[in-house]
Amino acid sequence: MTSELLAQEGIPIFPAGVVKQYKNLNPPEIPSMEDFDFNKQANSNPETTQFGTEPPNILEHNGLLDLKIWFEDCIKDYLDNEMTLDYKEFWISESWLNKSWPGSHQSMHNHGNSLISGVYYHKTIPEHPPLIFERVTANLDPFVSLRKHYKASNQNFTNKIGMPAESGTLIMFNSYLYHGFGVNNTKEPRISLPFNVLANLSDRDSFKMDFVKQERWLNNDDAARYTVKGDGTTGGIERRMSK
Ligand SMILES: [Fe+2]
Repeated sequence: MTSELLAQEGIPIFPAGVVKQYKNLNPPEIPSMEDFDFNKQANSNPETTQFGTEPPNILEHNGLLDLKIWFEDCIKDYLDNEMTLDYKEFWISESWLNKSWPGSHQSMHNHGNSLISGVYYHKTIPEHPPLIFERVTANLDPFVSLRKHYKASNQNFTNKIGMPAESGTLIMFNSYLYHGFGVNNTKEPRISLPFNVLANLSDRDSFKMDFVKQERWLNNDDAARYTVKGDGTTGGIERRMSK
């Protein structure tokens, strides 16, 4: 005797976040990368326009205005249609360029002081490493780890997803999601333009919350310096602070 099983497809609930890809079929002309001041970073991380002479919002550059307008259309779509957030205004609070030379990679991180983030791929080739999103394991399998017991990977239970870094494509995501990319094993630099977005939210019955819409700046002269003194040796830690 056979029994019939009537079941709907499983419904993923409370997703960790939403990653959305936007393709620009006519990517605007933008200035040559030679026009920007890239700074080297430690630990084989990409060169970046952060922390140097460039403004902390590189999209203020005149030559990037068309790109910024397209980003704003994409941000609006994400806030309205994916998040259904009730907001008064939004703005790109910071943006920069990254150049990943062969051999470099970006370690896993997320973006604080930001609601959603995006990465636009200006110059990439199909062989470049994808943008990897990683789910933090805390509290997801607290008693029995199933990590090594899946017969096949699937999008609901995987802890890593790679999104292709395609030229002319923007990947938007919740800023708290951990992301990074593996070693660039090609001979071509992988150039991207990441940005962060803040929004002022619509007032609710008894409370309101506003971010101060002020550009972020960096003061290298006012770096915080921590010193740990030991027997005959002094260890110093210097950290550049952004405000
Ligand atoms: Fe990032």
